[in-house]
Amino acid sequence: MKLINMFSRLTRPSTVAFICRGFSSSPSLFQVSSHTDAHQHHMNCKVAVLGASGGIGQPLSLLLKRSSLISQLSLYDIAHTPGVAADLSHIETRPKVSGHMGPEQLKDCLTGAQVVIIPAGVPRKPGMTRDDLFNTNASIVRDLCQACTEFCPDAMIGIVTNPVNSTVPIASEVFKKNKVYDPNRIFGVTTLDVVRSNTFIAEAKGLDVSKVNVPVIGGHSGVTIIPLISQATPPLSFPQDDRKKLTVRIQNAGTEVVEAKAGAGSATLSMAYAAARFTTSLLEAIGGAEGKIECAFVRSDETEAKYFATPVLLGKNGVERNLGIGKLIEYEVNLLKEAMPELLANIQKGEDFVRQS
Ligand code: NAD
Ligand code: LMR
Repeated sequence: MKLINMFSRLTRPSTVAFICRGFSSSPSLFQVSSHTDAHQHHMNCKVAVLGASGGIGQPLSLLLKRSSLISQLSLYDIAHTPGVAADLSHIETRPKVSGHMGPEQLKDCLTGAQVVIIPAGVPRKPGMTRDDLFNTNASIVRDLCQACTEFCPDAMIGIVTNPVNSTVPIASEVFKKNKVYDPNRIFGVTTLDVVRSNTFIAEAKGLDVSKVNVPVIGGHSGVTIIPLISQATPPLSFPQDDRKKLTVRIQNAGTEVVEAKAGAGSATLSMAYAAARFTTSLLEAIGGAEGKIECAFVRSDETEAKYFATPVLLGKNGVERNLGIGKLIEYEVNLLKEAMPELLANIQKGEDFVRQS
């Protein structure tokens, strides 16, 4: 029962009412059935997962293999993808699965992909910050994005690899360098921060978690993660002390998992769930569903930071509208002030890396 609930959550509409107006997109993309729910339509969408053999990549690919919105699931890694693909391909669901291993197979993996999700790269061990992953992961993201600019320049790119505050600027600079940059198509996946906030806050208030939505803005590391509890649905009030404790727990939730795993990596299963939720919303929006909103770390004019996570309305071409940071209470204004120096430095570091390489 729990499992069924988990999967239904993946296709549940986000914060605003979901209205399916039927698909007006090109018939080559969609085979429209008589059902009214977007997720029951069969879209012909190719989705690629880069880093598909990893702790996140495998369960994410499994969750995506359940989606009728996907016609082809294309799995890439530097190791083990033939096995992962063979295994998944036996599952009795719609997406055809292909496995690709090594850079010479990136062309086949990426050609025709409309959505590319990137969880390739090393995770943290206890005592490390996300920024400590920069030296290894920056070049991995740079090189994979370079391949995307060559083989699927119009794809939507969802970046999971840490440090997200830097890897999104890296991806963006690579697309700019190759003159195929569309800021509306590059997303840092911060959905896990929202998922955690929903869980912790529903627990604290004894609420049905499926009815709770807490926007999270800023970036994806420590103090740059800014949960907006004042904007929660349903509206909730907390004594200041409890608000602070919850905020700190949300900011440190990644570290909570890193420490519990004691050297065996960071969040993988909750992250796979979060990335599948984000990908599903994006696919539904590409398919014409209205009102699909997810928080994501995107190119932004909302603050002085060039990249900033806010709720964004998704559409056929990616970010349709940035919904902004909304009205903050004083405590949240201070969180934003505290976040800015680290966020700006992380962004600069990512941009410098590509400009200098
Ligand atoms: P993992 O080590 O289990 O898996 C990473 C995979 O990437 C491995 O299969 C590896 O072979 C592959 N890989 C390495 N270099 C590659 C390359 N050049 N091309 C393709 N694949 C390559 O790690 P994981 O637990 O899956 O975490 C992956 C990343 O996601 C880490 O950087 C981690 O910090 C990050 N992460 C982000 C969030 C988030 O909220 N955005 C949450 C959790 C983890
Ligand atoms: C998370 O938030 O779980 C990820 O960013 C992984 C990490 O290193 O904490």
